[in-house]
Formats: sequence, C-alpha cells, structure tokens
Amino acid sequence: MTDRPLNSPRLSDLARRLLADDFRWGVATSAYQIEGAVDVDGRGPSIWDTFARQPGRTVNGESGAVACDHYRRWADDVAMIGELGVDAYRFSIAWPRVQPQGQGAFNAKGLDFYDRLVDALLEHGIAPHATLYHWDLPQALQDLGGWGNRDTAFHFATYADAMARRLGDRLASLATHNEPWCTAVLGHEIGKFAPGDRDPQLAAQVSHHLLLSHGLAMSAMRASGARCPLGIVLNQSSVTPATDSAADRAGAATEYARFVRWYMDPIFRGEYPQDPGIAHYPEVRAGDMALIQAPMDFLGVNFYSRIWVSREDSPRPAPNALGQTDMGWEIHPDGLRELLVGLKDQYGALPPIFITENGMANADTLQEGRVRDAARIDYVHAHLEALAQAKAAGVDVRGYFYWSLMDNYEWDSGYAKRFGLVHVDYETQQRVFKDSAHWYRDTIADLKADAGRAAGEAAHG
Ligand code: FCB
Repeated sequence: MTDRPLNSPRLSDLARRLLADDFRWGVATSAYQIEGAVDVDGRGPSIWDTFARQPGRTVNGESGAVACDHYRRWADDVAMIGELGVDAYRFSIAWPRVQPQGQGAFNAKGLDFYDRLVDALLEHGIAPHATLYHWDLPQALQDLGGWGNRDTAFHFATYADAMARRLGDRLASLATHNEPWCTAVLGHEIGKFAPGDRDPQLAAQVSHHLLLSHGLAMSAMRASGARCPLGIVLNQSSVTPATDSAADRAGAATEYARFVRWYMDPIFRGEYPQDPGIAHYPEVRAGDMALIQAPMDFLGVNFYSRIWVSREDSPRPAPNALGQTDMGWEIHPDGLRELLVGLKDQYGALPPIFITENGMANADTLQEGRVRDAARIDYVHAHLEALAQAKAAGVDVRGYFYWSLMDNYEWDSGYAKRFGLVHVDYETQQRVFKDSAHWYRDTIADLKADAGRAAGEAAHG
C-alpha cells in the first residue's frame, strides 16, 4: 500500500463551509469501556461486571475490569485529547462509582474523580459533555428488578439531579441516557448485553421505564436550576426495504417504528408508535407521557450503519461497494443524511442535534509505531460529507463526536474490536495515534484556520 498525505482526503468545499463556524468537534468514550478500576475507591459492582463473569456472555470472557486503565491514567488521557485538537470530549459517569448502591449514600471519591476530570478538560480548553447512563446499572438495583422495576426510574432521577448539581456549572451538556434501545432490546429481549434477559414484554416495559427515568431526571434537574444544556442520546439508523414488495416495505416501517420512532415519538409527540408489526407495548401510567415530553436543549444521535429489512423470500441485497466494518456493519454514509432529513420532515422543529457517536471498528495493527487505518479515514470523511449535506438541507446539526477516542472494551465483543482514533496496547497501556487521529486533527485544524481567516477578513472589512 502506498502512503498518502495525512490530511488527505480533504473535505469538500460544501463541508468546509458548513462545518466550520460554531461546529463542535469531539471524541467520545464511556465509563465501563475505558475506566477499569472496578473495585477501587468504593465503586460498587455494575450489571456489566456480573454479566461479563457469566460463561459465554462475552468474547473470551473479557470484562471492563482493566480496560484502558483510564481511572488511573485520566490526566495523561486528557492531555492526549488536547493533542488531538478537538473542542469537546463526551464521556459517561459510572453510576456505581458515584452512588455504589444506586440509591442512598454517594461516594465522595467517585464524585471527586469526575470533578477532577471535568476541571482538567476545561484547563485544556476541551468542553466536557457528560452522559449519566451508558449501561452500567448498579448491580444492587438489578437485584431489585433493574429497569424492569419502575422504582429504578425514580432512583435514576435522584442520581441525575445530584450530578447536575455537582457538575452542571462546568459541563457543556448533560445527557440522561445513551441508546436506550440497546438497554431495552439487547439487554432484555435478545440477551446480548447485560443483564442478558430474553423477554420481549419485559423489554418493552424497560424501554418505558428508561424513558420515564429520562423525563423524571429532566424535571428534577430543571427544578434545581441545572446550568448546562440537557438532552438524551439515541441510536438511530436509516431503514431500507430490500425490495419494493408490500411485505418488505411494511417490515421496514415496523423496524423504523421499533428503532427510531419508539424513542422519538414519546419524547416529541407523547405517544408510542402504533404499528401492526409491534406485538409488545408497555404499561403506561397517567402522567408518564407528560414527563417524557419534557423540552430538551439538544438531541444526541448515534449513527453507525443502516438496517436492511428483508421479509418473506426477498433476495438479500447486493453487497454495498463501500463494504462493511470489522463489526460486520454495512458502511452507508448516505443513511446519515437520509435519517437526519427524515427526522426533520417527520418531527418538524427539533432541538439542535449533535452526532454524539459515529465511527468504525477496523482490524488495525500497530507496525513500527504506525497504524495505517485508511479505511477509518474514508469512513469519517464520507460521514462528514453526508452530515454537511444534511445541514445544507436545513438540519440543525451542531457537532460531531467520533466513537471512540481510543480502542476500548467493546461490550460482548471484548477487546477484539478496535474503534479508536488512538491505538491501545492492552499489555502496556501504551497509546499511539493512528493515521486517522492525525487526519482528524489536521482536518479540524484546517477548518479552524479557515474560520479564523474568515473572521479576520470580516473584522478588517
Ligand atoms: C454504541 C455504543 C458504544 C459503542 C459503539 C460501538 O452502540 O454506545 O458504547 O459500543 O456502539
């Protein structure tokens, strides 16, 4: 393979224009995937510690017990984020670290960790964007029924409010949940994620309790005067029927209702989508929907791929020319444009959108100190172009966070899947910028130089 200049490919003029001003560039991680130190400084066990210990749940039985050792290396990691030249860092707060039982006493050492992290980010000029729940429920609450128990939603609101009081004066944003679909469906219907249940009716109830907990948290945080923008992060996807048959089109509508509308409709319309293909609906109590509809300051969208729907005997679609990632996920950047423009058409005025995750797993190898991940550069480049097109079509997108800052624990896939801009050697914990990290840094610097020039010209008339 021949080398190419690190800042190539260059973004199109459209993208350079639309993603320059007031656009936030970031990288994202989550607590359980990077922190390690699961039994240090009073952290309580989470459902992922339990799940990963059960035979056959994760690749090689791997867990986040050590992960990237970020709990100890956080200061170096913040400096590294600074070297990447991004404006923003999205991380999650481990509920069991700050409130080990999920209710009752808070843990001072856990709270101090996030205080220090936030302060260090600010000292490096990096805006801290926090998420309250990225799947690591305190095991003590799971023992009481977890998200299947309505009480958990109320405990979550107490935790959220405490964190907003503690950090809200310095956070650039605070999201309640990350990808509630994954918690509900992967965690309770398919059993691929913690806690590993396989019960579709429970999964529907869990999704409702997650949304309720979002609404209760929003109302608690607003009531105590939270000083940062508040919102939620949803995983979304475009959905394509494999053929034009009535069955495939109906199947695609059902998938879109289950994946996208199931969370968007309650939040923005106050109801669950009705679809003949959906068999399980939760019990909803009077007043729940009003809480869930609490106005938000931003909407986080995580986008990775698209969903193909093929019902009956429809032939499998031809493989996409762009191929797939190491997760086996189809690379389809135009799905991002299609999704965002669709949301605008379907929901009208939405709060400002941030792409809070987008990225790819790649079979990266470190050779002589370098990782040549051209595929990742192409992936990000193509998704940024799609984002610019969505913006050109009137979608109010304010930022982009690459998933992930560094290689980390990819849930049931263990450490085999590498999503990072930064390569992590799990034996030595050495971090090395991949080619994509250099490209991302140079691309951002280039756009900022453009914006700086434009501002200079404006100032000089
Ligand atoms: C998302 C998760 C994130 C990571 C990426 C690859 O669904 O939010 O933690 O696992 O996928």
